[in-house]
Amino acid sequence: MKATAIAHPNFALIKYWGKADRTLNIPATGSISVTVDRLLTKTEVSFDNALDQDIVTLDGNQLDPKEAARVVAFMDLVRKMSGCRWFARVNSINNFPADAGLASSASAFAALALAASNAAGLKMKPGELSALARRGSGSAARSIFGGYVEMHAGTSPNGLDAIANPIAEASSWPLVILIAVTSSDVKRINSTDGMNMTAKTSPFFNSWITSTQKDLENMRAGIGARDLARVGELMEHSCLKMHGLMLSARPGLIYWNDGTLQVIETIRRLRRQRQNAYFTVDAGPQVKVICEPDHLLRVKEALSRLSGVSRIIETMPGPAARLLED
Ligand code: DP6
Repeated sequence: MKATAIAHPNFALIKYWGKADRTLNIPATGSISVTVDRLLTKTEVSFDNALDQDIVTLDGNQLDPKEAARVVAFMDLVRKMSGCRWFARVNSINNFPADAGLASSASAFAALALAASNAAGLKMKPGELSALARRGSGSAARSIFGGYVEMHAGTSPNGLDAIANPIAEASSWPLVILIAVTSSDVKRINSTDGMNMTAKTSPFFNSWITSTQKDLENMRAGIGARDLARVGELMEHSCLKMHGLMLSARPGLIYWNDGTLQVIETIRRLRRQRQNAYFTVDAGPQVKVICEPDHLLRVKEALSRLSGVSRIIETMPGPAARLLED
């Protein structure tokens, strides 16, 4: 009744922003991402019949009931699927720098889905695990897999086909993914609330949904051809389109800070100097930069000179979520 799993965060090349079904957490569109190495969440789940509630610990601190609610709701789902009635100890640690503002629900719920399902005796196939992880967080469905991954919105009302699948192995295209940390401030509107508010109030939400279809096709082709210029251009387009959409919500959602804009300007300048680097930004101010390994030193040097960048974390495409043997 105990299992430990590791999962890595992923960064979306084509973004997910909006839900088709809030209860089942089915995304309104597909998305495409790359899972990264080095950053990870490790989660141990042990069911124990002596407990009268789930005890959730994150980075050594026990969460209060309000903070633990999302994890407890996920554990209720695993109990329902497995028939297990016991509560559990859930102990999770991230190896990300605590002040990097990178808290990732993707690696968190991918590791929890794998550890909790195994601890409860459920033997799930990767696609089923992806659907389970999605119930915790949409982006977590992608972190079940390594390398380049596509998430499908699916067509089934029960969400069984709203799952991810790998489209290219990590080692088949070893790009560098830099994370330029521009703030350690964690106070912001979380993705779930932000996307629900956007869907409700933005006049552009329907165009976002319909235009993403073509972006997914083009991104799939760009990754297939290992064409960084094409992938990079599309990645920036999807990112800027998502942030434009966020700005058009009421009230408008602004996730960027000065450092975010400094990095974007720098990447555009480097491209004018023939350095092939591309940026993307999620629901926070950090910027992820993708480039070929040959360009790493120039790009890193340019970013490290910016007053708005406090730290640069270097990653590459990384592995799938996995169980650790005891
Ligand atoms: C901007 O997966 O965090 O990072 O399903 O509500 O938990 P929930 O949302 P989440 O949203 C990720 C949003 C994003 C874009 C992306 O990763 O595709």
